This record gives sequence, structure tokens and C-alpha cells, in this order.
Amino acid sequence: MTHSNSTTTLILGATSAMAEHSARLLATDGDALFLAARNPEDLAPMAEDLKVRGASAVTILPAFDALKPDTFADIINQAAPFDRVLIAHGSLPDQEDCQDSLSKIKQELQINFQSTVDLCTLCAEKFIDQGSGTLAVISSVAGLRGRQSNYIYGAAKGGLNTFLQGLRNRLQTKGIRVITLLPGFVDTPMTADIKKGPLFISAEQAGICIHKAITKSKSDIVYVPSFWRFIMWIIRSIPEPIFKRLKL
Ligand SMILES: NC(=O)c1ccc[n+]([C@@H]2O[C@H](COP(=O)([O-])OP(=O)(O)OC[C@H]3O[C@@H](n4cnc5c(N)ncnc54)[C@H](OP(=O)(O)O)[C@@H]3O)[C@@H](O)[C@H]2O)c1
Repeated sequence: MTHSNSTTTLILGATSAMAEHSARLLATDGDALFLAARNPEDLAPMAEDLKVRGASAVTILPAFDALKPDTFADIINQAAPFDRVLIAHGSLPDQEDCQDSLSKIKQELQINFQSTVDLCTLCAEKFIDQGSGTLAVISSVAGLRGRQSNYIYGAAKGGLNTFLQGLRNRLQTKGIRVITLLPGFVDTPMTADIKKGPLFISAEQAGICIHKAITKSKSDIVYVPSFWRFIMWIIRSIPEPIFKRLKL
């Protein structure tokens, strides 16, 4: 289905709290939205809400499960042509569960790294054919330095950051934007069990940052919110011999 007079945005992992708040603002802009998530039936109330907010069209796609890579091409083909894609899905595993189980590590790397690499590669092909497009991916500041408390998740997001950097490098002459979104702490179902401190922002605030990054900003790498650039600059400047002793 094409929506010729409005910008069309595909959202993968659309039930994510951050994705939903971003989608609300895209709807207000009048975007046509394609939504994909593990349980498409969960998207029905969101789709109705987005129409009321001003989306020019909302289409719910067949189930998108990051653990089922054979379905990715079909999901993307059903949405094409689209102008933008926001990839939002992810899981925050328990580090101790992960480090003792090769199958758990493999699963988490599939959800947080490999599936997104596959999806970006498929979307990039579409954008190259179209001669334009914006690819925005929610990664994490956790990918910027390995810590004992979450280095499987961090490794997946770190790999993703490097992948996106290379893809951006390759596509920058072809009119295609690749945006790496780096949230810090956001109050969403993913962080429900984590004690909230002053560095937390709401999913709504994150949605505002993400919407701005996609629609207005020219930045390639966007911290959500921007103060994380400074925090991560400090964390990344700690020499490794000192950092490895910190219980972070
Ligand atoms: N919250 C934070 O503090 C934080 C910080 C940095 C980065 N991030 C990243 O932000 C992104 C959005 O997360 P969120 O904070 O908005 O959390 P969230 O509301 O819990 O959303 C997580 C999303 O991932 C989806 N998902 C999980 N496993 C999946 C699978 N196998 N296949 C397809 N979808 C799957 C969930 O789908 P269901 O609805 O089906 O469960 C849900 O839509 C993630 O990439 C996360 O890593 C979050």
C-alpha cells in the first residue's frame, strides 16, 4: 500500500514504549504508519489512537519476531515503499542468566544485534533503489563501554553501533540517513525492575527526542537525552586499568 501525499514510516518493535511515544508525534505530523510487533493484536488500540492523533493511515503488519529471521523480508516488502524506518525492539536480559548459558547468549545477540543487522540490510536495499530514506535504530549507551553487570546486552548494542557507523559511511553519498539513537535510562517496561534515579527520563520524553532526531535534527548519533553525551564522554575516558576495578 502506498500513501503518496504523506511521509511513510515503518516501525518495527512498535509496542515498545519509546516507539509508541515516537509514533504519537509522527501521527501528529500526519505520517502514514506501518506497525510491526510480536503480537499484532496488541497494536490495535495503538493504531486507533494514532489515527485520532492525525496519522494519514495506520497499517498493522503480520507478526514480527526478532527470533524468526525468515519472516523479515516479507514484513518489509509488505510495507514498501516507505520513507523512514524506526527499529525499536530489544530485550534486557539478566546478565548472570546469560553468562552461564551459550543458548541464552545466542538468543540475546539475535534479538539485540543480528535481527537488527538483517532488518537494516533489507531496508538499506529498499532505500538504495528509492534513492532516499532514513533508517533510525534504537541502540543504547550500554554499547559504549563493557561492564560486568550487562556486557552481553552491551556487546550486542556495541556491535550494532559499529555496524550502523559503517552502514552510514557506505550510504552517505546515496541520500540515505542512518541515525544511531543512544538512550540512557528510560522508564519503560524494560526497566520496570530497576530502581529509578535522577538520570531516568519518561518514555514520553524519549519519544520527543527520537521524533526530533528523525524529523528535524541532522545529527547521526543522538543521545536520548543529550546529557548522556557528556556522561559517556567521562565514562569512556576512564583508563581501562582503573575501569576494570570498578564494580559497574
Ligand atoms: N528502557 C531503557 O532504559 C533503554 C535504554 C537504552 C536502550 N533501550 C532500548 O530501547 C529499545 C526500546 O525499548 P523500551 O525501553 O521501549 O522497552 P519496552 O517498552 O519494554 O519495549 C521492548 C520492545 O521489544 C520487543 N521485543 C522483545 N523481544 C522481541 C522479539 N523477540 N521480537 C520482536 N520484538 C521483541 C517488545 O515486544 P513485546 O511487546 O511483544 O514484548 C517491545 O516492543 C530497545 O532496543 C532497548 O534495548 C532501552
